[in-house]
Amino acid sequence: MATIGVIPGDGVGPEVIREAVAILEDLGAAHGLGLEFSSFDLGSDRYLRTTEVLPDSVVQDLARCDAILLGAIGDPRVPPGVLEKGLLLKIRFDFQQYINLRPVQLFPGVETPIKGKGPEQIDLVVVRENNEDLYVGAGGFTRKGTPEEVAIQTSVNTRAGVERCLRYAFDLADRRAKARVFRGLSDDDRSAGRRGLVSLVAKTNVLTYAHDLWNRAFEEVARDYPSIKTDYHHVDACCMRLVVSPERYDVIVTTNMFGDIITDLGAVLQGGMGVAASGNLNPERKYPSMFEPVHGSAPDIAGTGKANPIAAILSIGLLLDHLGAADAGNAVRSAVKRVLADPDGPRTPDLGGSGSTSEVGRAVREAIGRG
Ligand code: NAD
Ligand code: IPM
Ligand code: MN
Repeated sequence: MATIGVIPGDGVGPEVIREAVAILEDLGAAHGLGLEFSSFDLGSDRYLRTTEVLPDSVVQDLARCDAILLGAIGDPRVPPGVLEKGLLLKIRFDFQQYINLRPVQLFPGVETPIKGKGPEQIDLVVVRENNEDLYVGAGGFTRKGTPEEVAIQTSVNTRAGVERCLRYAFDLADRRAKARVFRGLSDDDRSAGRRGLVSLVAKTNVLTYAHDLWNRAFEEVARDYPSIKTDYHHVDACCMRLVVSPERYDVIVTTNMFGDIITDLGAVLQGGMGVAASGNLNPERKYPSMFEPVHGSAPDIAGTGKANPIAAILSIGLLLDHLGAADAGNAVRSAVKRVLADPDGPRTPDLGGSGSTSEVGRAVREAIGRG
């Protein structure tokens, strides 16, 4: 028995979450997972109605869930930061979801804007530190509103916080390397540069305190993983390489802010915001982890039925993996692959089709049903 807390949220959030939950319900029944759903009315409507963003009592209710599924939050009627910090970041911080796992994988049948690259070349994972850096909100203004105004926003990087993130990345690279060997990849594949490789992405040439700490911790943790290769890229060069040679990456580990930025680029490599999934993980399972598409509330297409539900659906794949139901997670990924590879299958406008959110959701459900 597992309880899934569902936060549909704002804009396209509820539209894509409806499809994801329908699939979770089917899979829960088919795999005997005994899933129960508890929906939370959080986001712009509640805020505009009551000025509440995330009351403490709701945090306690969420804490009792086994996992959380979130659509998106953010609304043009609400000042920037109110919901993003008060709701999304508060959950990530309160529940010590210190890993933000963001796979970047191209599926057959989906086009990438990167010329000459296909699913073989685009298959990496970004491990984004999720509890520190510029996101802690340290800082403030002096002389606000005057010509002498100064605004300071400090990046906080603790040795313990950085190290736990790095260890997660190395463990993941180890698991990915073993899974690939298990799948029988040739030596050529393995030597292609992106097998068992952790790349640290930072800016050690400028952030000589914060990223010096990252770099030293990286070198120390790497010594515990002699079979994993390592390299280092400055974040600006990483953006260039993600476009020019994405195949050279396996696991990228990076800071909160850089991870945010490079994973929108990663989303575009894999076909767009509509297909990029993520998990905010508390690896110790002391608190629930939260799964959500990388995209936001997309106010420009909300209510039009054009939102792609694939990112939300792939996020439940990560949720199922986290609950220990990897068979069900694989069923989701395999169904998504089959739907996207089908030239006659429905697809939303972001992927060049004219299908609707619910048509794509239904096609994935049917593909899962066919096994
Ligand atoms: P966004 O991700 O909402 O939209 C960027 C572009 O991608 C838009 O053109 C949008 O139409 C498109 N897009 C997004 N999701 C799509 C989908 N499922 N299918 C097809 N196209 C899709 O980013 P934004 O416009 O910068 O932000 C809008 C709001 O969302 C802001 O308030 C922002 O703070 C918030 N936001 C929330 C989250 C979250 O809840 N996790 C993430 C990012 C942004
Ligand atoms: C994301 C979003 C969030 C972030 C915002 C909405 C706080 O952009 O999940 O990528 O910056 O982490
Ligand atoms: Mn982002």
